[in-house]
Amino acid sequence: MAKKKDNKFRWHRRHLLGLHDLSRQEIQFILDTAKGFEQISTRSIKKAPTLRGRVVVNMFFEDSTRTRISFTLAANRLSADVIEFTKKSSSVSKGETLLDTARNLEAMGIDIVVIRHNAGGAPKFLSRNIDACVINAGDGFNEHPTQALLDCYTIQKTSGPLDGLKNSIVGDIAHSRVARSGIWAMTKLGAEITLVGPATLMPPKVDQLPVNVSYKLDDVIEQFDVINMLRIQFERMGGSAFPSTREYSHFLGLTAERMKRAKPDILVMHPGPINRGLEIESGVADGKNSVILQQVANGLAVRMAVLFLVNQTAIEEAKSK
Ligand code: NCD
Repeated sequence: MAKKKDNKFRWHRRHLLGLHDLSRQEIQFILDTAKGFEQISTRSIKKAPTLRGRVVVNMFFEDSTRTRISFTLAANRLSADVIEFTKKSSSVSKGETLLDTARNLEAMGIDIVVIRHNAGGAPKFLSRNIDACVINAGDGFNEHPTQALLDCYTIQKTSGPLDGLKNSIVGDIAHSRVARSGIWAMTKLGAEITLVGPATLMPPKVDQLPVNVSYKLDDVIEQFDVINMLRIQFERMGGSAFPSTREYSHFLGLTAERMKRAKPDILVMHPGPINRGLEIESGVADGKNSVILQQVANGLAVRMAVLFLVNQTAIEEAKSK
């Protein structure tokens, strides 16, 4: 008798470095797993024993509010022991390298490293040189996979499947790892992406990306189902990429006036931190179309899912050795 084909998808990754190399099925699997974790946050005792006895280190070489706290909380809710590492309070400020730092932490028995670093590729480098699982919490201009996953989760939860949706990413795309991961995730899930911004803030080789490009928000805003506004990342820019912030807001800011031409049920998203009055008007950020705080809430479930999945692979691999 012919052996029955097992179609059941099996997660096999012990690192989450980016979304570029993930399949649609893998991305959807993370989002489906997150659904299961969402209800833990609604319980009176917000804890599951999933990562009990495991050690997670949050290595943040760049400032962060949402992502760091979200990872800490996610690991806490799964009962892991969590260690917070920041550049300023560590021996990195005395000249210790990333690899030496990670190897020393590993010698103390860590299982998962969550890393944010200003150098693109730092998480990948780490994953090749240490045994612990590595999760990218944002690397340079490269990727910010959990942000894009929580964005997709929020869209699916609010508007349903991404297939056929017309989504836009607006603003400083050149310096945005959120945009890059968002492009990979949303196009794989079937959305059409339009990047909107000044030519000076478009990424290099934009013509090779699976996106449409527009330079003027007013020309295209009425098409979109989702609008993802980005912060201008001044800290990543050498010089100024546009004449003035006033001019930027005038052409690209999401104002109540501009929203009048958008679809009535457009989803307004922003990864945070917001610069109110610059890329987005306060009334719009807090308005009825905004899902900005839902994004933050959903981030927790998504990060719990990612921690759970990479840990599960590590445990299976250890068993089979
Ligand atoms: C983003 C980041 O750090 O890449 N923020 C975040 O993680 N929510 C975007 C930004 O800093 O503008």
